[in-house]
Amino acid sequence: MRAVVIHESLTGNTEKAAEFMVARLAEAGVEAVSCPTTAVDYQALAAADLVIIGSWTDGLFLFGQKPGRAARIAQLPYLTGKRAAVYCTYAIETGRTLPKLEELVRGLGADVVGGMAIRRNRLAEGAEEFVDRLLGVVAA
Ligand SMILES: Cc1cc2nc3c(=O)[nH]c(=O)nc-3n(C[C@H](O)[C@H](O)[C@H](O)COP(=O)(O)O)c2cc1C
Repeated sequence: MRAVVIHESLTGNTEKAAEFMVARLAEAGVEAVSCPTTAVDYQALAAADLVIIGSWTDGLFLFGQKPGRAARIAQLPYLTGKRAAVYCTYAIETGRTLPKLEELVRGLGADVVGGMAIRRNRLAEGAEEFVDRLLGVVAA
């Protein structure tokens, strides 16, 4: 299986989470790479059986949350026929960030099989838990 993790990151947390995911996927024998939304690895994307897309939570901390720079995600290539999963990183409260991200990725034609909000003070643990859960779903 091959996977690609595409991240939209302002201060580095979402990117770090992507790197932890790639490491965990590799441990499980999945060929995985990560890339930012601004420099998509099209070759890896074309070959991927699983596409993980992540962004950060942008809002007024307790309300109005949405995926950061959502327009960059909406402009990703079509993912018709691909399995995808979404994640967001956050500080305090995600509101509807995750369902909004899921909707965006579904709009690209992907079959969204999972999602997770990862708090910025537990990026490694969250990323590993997410990958383990996803592998349970896609391997089934
Ligand atoms: C402009 C701005 C708005 C934010 N709004 C929220 C918010 O509403 N709720 C929240 O929990 N975190 C909020 N955060 C925190 C980020 O979502 C969090 O630090 C995230 O991990 C950043 O990811 P990044 O380092 O990949 O950019 C905000 C951060 C910024 C810069």
